[in-house]
Amino acid sequence: MFEFPKNFAWGAATSGPQSEGNFKKKHQNVFDYWYAKDPKAFYAGVGPDTASNFYNDYREDIPLMRQAGIKVLRTSIQWSRLIADFEKCSVDEEAVAFYNDMIDTLLENGITPYLNLCHFDMPVELQHKYGGFESKHVTDLFAGYAKRCFELFGDRVDHWFTFNEPKVILDGGYLYQFHYPLKVDGPLAVQVAYNLNLASAKAIAEFRKLYGNDGTKKIGTILNLTPAYAASESKADQAAAEFAELWANKMFLDPAVLGEFPSKLVEILEKDGVLWEATPEELALIKQDTVDLLGINFYHPFRVKAPEISAKSLQDWMPDIYFDNYEMPGRVMNVDKGWEIYPEALYDIALNIRDNYHNIEWFVSENGMGVSREERFMDEHGMVCDDYRIEFLKEHLRALHRGITAGSNCHGYFVWTGIDCWSWQNAYRNRYGLIRDEIHTQTKTLKKSGYWFAKVSAQNGFE
Ligand code: NOJ
Repeated sequence: MFEFPKNFAWGAATSGPQSEGNFKKKHQNVFDYWYAKDPKAFYAGVGPDTASNFYNDYREDIPLMRQAGIKVLRTSIQWSRLIADFEKCSVDEEAVAFYNDMIDTLLENGITPYLNLCHFDMPVELQHKYGGFESKHVTDLFAGYAKRCFELFGDRVDHWFTFNEPKVILDGGYLYQFHYPLKVDGPLAVQVAYNLNLASAKAIAEFRKLYGNDGTKKIGTILNLTPAYAASESKADQAAAEFAELWANKMFLDPAVLGEFPSKLVEILEKDGVLWEATPEELALIKQDTVDLLGINFYHPFRVKAPEISAKSLQDWMPDIYFDNYEMPGRVMNVDKGWEIYPEALYDIALNIRDNYHNIEWFVSENGMGVSREERFMDEHGMVCDDYRIEFLKEHLRALHRGITAGSNCHGYFVWTGIDCWSWQNAYRNRYGLIRDEIHTQTKTLKKSGYWFAKVSAQNGFE
């Protein structure tokens, strides 16, 4: 039996923009805008308009999640829904009523809410007017919005998060063009990375003003960690992996937990002439306002090769990272996602946090398997028999269990996701849920993994 610590949190994660749908929203976020402009950029032309209809269905969805063993739900508030006027930080009353009732319904159903403040969903108005997180002014607006959320919902919500996967905001929006504003601009990506860290610290500062530091209420950030393993023993590959680790992981992990950017990264960026603009006051704030806990999203590691041609010779400045995800024999791949399946990395993460990050409290804030055309696996009663997902989750839980046994301070495991949801440009191509969503009828039914997870959650472990 793999038994987990007492009070271990069995949860699931989703986000506002991926589940709610656009109903009654006063503003667009960058994805709403991009979809309206260019629906063909999204798989099968499906946008965020309905998503999994959580805005209308949450009273039915929440008990269903509970049935699937979900005892904690991590979701996000949409800045573009909650706030009526971004500069004044006034709120939209209908949105307040929605989030209030969502929180109350979760609690009535025995589900603890964890709330995140930004899940890639920059209000498009702020993107167009200021450049979104390119601008330091927007970091202040974000802190104001965060404060508003704490004041409105903090009486019932004890776990808060500033960002989900901030690294993806710069990857998608400023390097590889899978998020709006679809720019390719390495130096700007570097500044955005810094500004995101700053925005997080500013929001945490607001939190501390309200709740202090006594641990009754906690605030953290959610990072996608992708341990970077060198593709070979060669010195060049080792150095490349070290850079990948700095750029992909430590650029957010270090300031969040240790209050400082890694000096090696700063050195490299400075040498390349692309270091961010920072003031001593900002750095002091980042130093002071670190997180209480970490959410870690884990899907896959990086296998890193030394670049054969320097990206810098091709572009003004791009991070020199070359991944080798496909070539090594013996690797298990998720064919639908093209991601390597390597649960052992979760154990490595657990030990890394234990040894290098004060053994800070953390939880797996996302882990899951995206699979296309799951109707292939439906039985005669319409249940998706997703044994592959159960196997995937088990393997990761086993690795996590070893990490916890070794002393890593992990308090929970959240599946991505409860109910199949809209996945950005991939829309509904790959499904991740414990619960199937028939998107044309919005009929929701537990998959086999949903029943399995319910058992695991009830027994606090599995055989
Ligand atoms: C990470 C992101 O937080 C989430 O928005 C996304 O849908 C999942 N990964 C699956 O790719």
